[in-house]
Amino acid sequence: MISQQTIQQILSRVDVVEVVGSFVKLKKRGVNYIGLCPFHNEKSPSFSVSPTKEIYKCFGCGKSGNSISFLMEAEKYSYVEALRWLANKYNVEIEETEISPELKAQYQVGDSLYIINQFAQQYFSDQLFKSEEGDAIAMSYLQERGFNEDIIRKFQIGYCLQDRDAFAKAALAAQYNEEYLQKSGLVVVRDGRAYDNYRGRIIFPIHNQSGKVLGFGARVIGKVERAPKYINTPENEIYHKSKILYGSYFARQAIDKNDECLLVEGYTDVVSLHQAGVENVVASGGTSLTPDQLRLVKKYTKNLTIIYDGDGAGVKAALRGLDLALEEGLNVKLVLIPDNEDPDSYVNKIGAEAFRDFVKANKKDFILFQVEILSKDAGDDTNKKAALVNQIAETIAKLNKTEDFTKQQDYIRRCSDLLRIDEIGLNNLVNKFIRDKLMKQELKDQKQQNPFGQSDGGPGFGPPMMGPDGFEEPPIFVPGEEDAVQLFNKDEANERAMIRCLLDYGLKPWDEGRRVADYIFEESVEQGMIDNKELVRIMDYYKGWYDEGLEPTSKNFLYHEDQGLSAIVVSVMDFAYELSAKWNQHFDGKMPTVEDIYRNDVRSAINYLKIRKIRRLLDENQRDMQKPHNSDELMVLLQTHMALKKMEQDMIKANGTVILK
Ligand code: CTP
Ligand code: MN
Repeated sequence: MISQQTIQQILSRVDVVEVVGSFVKLKKRGVNYIGLCPFHNEKSPSFSVSPTKEIYKCFGCGKSGNSISFLMEAEKYSYVEALRWLANKYNVEIEETEISPELKAQYQVGDSLYIINQFAQQYFSDQLFKSEEGDAIAMSYLQERGFNEDIIRKFQIGYCLQDRDAFAKAALAAQYNEEYLQKSGLVVVRDGRAYDNYRGRIIFPIHNQSGKVLGFGARVIGKVERAPKYINTPENEIYHKSKILYGSYFARQAIDKNDECLLVEGYTDVVSLHQAGVENVVASGGTSLTPDQLRLVKKYTKNLTIIYDGDGAGVKAALRGLDLALEEGLNVKLVLIPDNEDPDSYVNKIGAEAFRDFVKANKKDFILFQVEILSKDAGDDTNKKAALVNQIAETIAKLNKTEDFTKQQDYIRRCSDLLRIDEIGLNNLVNKFIRDKLMKQELKDQKQQNPFGQSDGGPGFGPPMMGPDGFEEPPIFVPGEEDAVQLFNKDEANERAMIRCLLDYGLKPWDEGRRVADYIFEESVEQGMIDNKELVRIMDYYKGWYDEGLEPTSKNFLYHEDQGLSAIVVSVMDFAYELSAKWNQHFDGKMPTVEDIYRNDVRSAINYLKIRKIRRLLDENQRDMQKPHNSDELMVLLQTHMALKKMEQDMIKANGTVILK
């Protein structure tokens, strides 16, 4: 864990304009900066960055957040990765706090493996480019296959000499630990002697998302005879095959740009396609996609296009596990490469442009493709056919998401056509699978319910980092989202206004010996004036810190590890609005400042909530009066009514400033 002190140090240096500006071209506009939103396609800029508030917000797609959430969103970093990136940018030395000894040991092994891999990558690269053997055997082979020097360097491809222990000797001489060398798979130890594991092979380093080497794939040169074609890194602390997509480090930006990820089988396919200028491509390593790999794809795009050779067993392997992709809402397309070619050989044969056209023209829908090949397999066998219809219905049922409804209907129509079965019948079958699934889910949910009955606090604010802040801007929420509806009622708006006052003005003086925060807490927290549980959570956090003597501001929330908390705060925060020159004229050169208006803001927010509370009590009292009562009871209720009414009137009178929004 990164120490709190380090985090503070990082955050005190972070400049959101600089961070966002590393990825987005920004122009100054008033107090803010604007640019083209990196999260959606647009021609005129609606993406705004506020240096004073330390947040960004897109008025086009609604994405908003701080430096950390920007890195998490744009670069797909985890919270910790984002902090590390910032630490590196701002030259903050990272101090780690105590972690469990097991975890620490695991990290240490992991770190050592990364270092060894980096050494090995450099070593193998040198052998390829600088040794005679590398040049004569490996480079000539790579060139014969059509790889040019640029692409070899980009992918850091290397060569391991045929000598039985050249690398092992070099690594041991450089003081690398034999045990870790073994763990890395680079070296095998037999009878107490270390030998090279990848002798005479081409080395493909495999990179993680930030470009560090996780492991290697080592290919024999030329035709495969007795030895396996590839030797791969064994599972260890950093190499988990099921979570890796080869090439993802190099493909990321192109995937973003194309909003599509191409998936091929092999290392050489990835490298060749890159060389041909098709860069949004990753490889699964010849096995069917795992859930982790799918998730990785989904981080970047919803559109997955699988490019496999037509007759290989690969296709069937690829089809397995793809139902999961549908469930995750990915659009899966399939392109089959003809004539015993694979993407690598095919692009070399027909050229980059023809290859791109071919992919475009031959994308097949995954579900329809499945129907096609499976119905060929089934032939006239009735049992097999029935099983196939069932399987297809189940697959279509997995599309069951509101947004996919039309898609689902479309599939039902097309599949019933292809299979020559009754459309209504297939529709019913699909519905049955949907019901089944829902029932199973319900059972599961019931079982999983927290035995202590704790709730996690009311409705959230929809997807993180979305939502209107304050009331100035038009709502950007997707209509129909339950959570969103709540955001727009005026009660909610006023609750949010109060939280905003707390965050913005909490530390400013209120009256004799009290600050705004004291006033707000006295007036609201105890009396339960806020309904929204998420906002209550913000208040509770604030109060906790405040009572400890800290001076919380929105920044404490912005960079909180719980980015959900941060998202709420961003959504509440007022985006520093720009005041144009016209305003200055209007106010006769005397612009109202924050100092002039904050008391009004606070009072207005609190009073609204107070009056709301009084009205609620009035309602309750009214309901009570409608029940049967004796005359004494009725008297009390009536008096209560009048007292409340008077309070309400007084409050409204005393505060001309209260505007019921
Ligand atoms: N693979 C593997 N071990 C093997 C064979 C294959 O790990 N013995 C994995 C590799 O990741 C390989 C992928 O499956 O990249 C696809 O296999 P294949 O098509 O045989 O290899 P290519 O990478 O296409 O290699 P080449 O073009 O050099 O034949
Ligand atoms: Mn190949």
